[in-house]
Amino acid sequence: MKKISLGAFLTVLVFLAPHSLDARFQVCKPSGKIKGKKPPPGKCVEDNDSFCCIPGKLYPTYKCSPPVSGTTKAILTLNSFEKGGDGGVPSKCDMKYHSDDIPVVALSTGWYNGGRRCLQNITISANGQSTHAMVVDERDSSTGCDEEHNYQPPFQNNIVDASKAVWKALGVPMNDWAELDIAWSDA
Ligand SMILES: *[C@@H]1O[C@H](CO)[C@@H](O)[C@H](O)[C@H]1NC(C)=O
Ligand SMILES: *[C@@H]1O[C@H](CO)[C@@H](O)[C@H](O)[C@H]1NC(C)=O
Repeated sequence: MKKISLGAFLTVLVFLAPHSLDARFQVCKPSGKIKGKKPPPGKCVEDNDSFCCIPGKLYPTYKCSPPVSGTTKAILTLNSFEKGGDGGVPSKCDMKYHSDDIPVVALSTGWYNGGRRCLQNITISANGQSTHAMVVDERDSSTGCDEEHNYQPPFQNNIVDASKAVWKALGVPMNDWAELDIAWSDA
């Protein structure tokens, strides 16, 4: 039998690993595209980290999110769930506002899963810390660029949009409260 050197073995691994990863993420494909339209005058409210759709630009839409595993990778973003906050409207799960001092999150459409995770807790890990947070809302990756979505683009399909209590619990310094790579799982 031919002896395979460790070097050759590792080379094979390095080549195979990215492909198997790709295969996993290809499970969720875009469901369509939306073309940005010019918002009516005064209707484009750009606040903090939100931007309006650019006229003519195509935005992919997703009805699915990457498959959920024990540690699903996601991007953590910051949102206010309070009355008068970025969200603007009450949370979809319970039609209520939530204090930003309570760890609550909104999930991208696929993970929100038609409300099946509503009021369930998830565990969020990052930064060597982990915390629980309750799912209260959806971040729509399936549509956008219209009045209902403040003329803002569809969300990415891998977002966990969190109250500041979540960022605090993860020990992230306030200056870095913007976007963070995290892993989450059902609690
Ligand atoms: C923008 O962010 C600041 C700081 O987090 C917050 O106090 C303010 O309410 C936000 N603006 C809106 C309209 O949500
Ligand atoms: C989620 O966590 C909160 C706070 O720890 C708790 O009050 C609530 O009962 C939990 N919800 C579920 C469905 O386990």
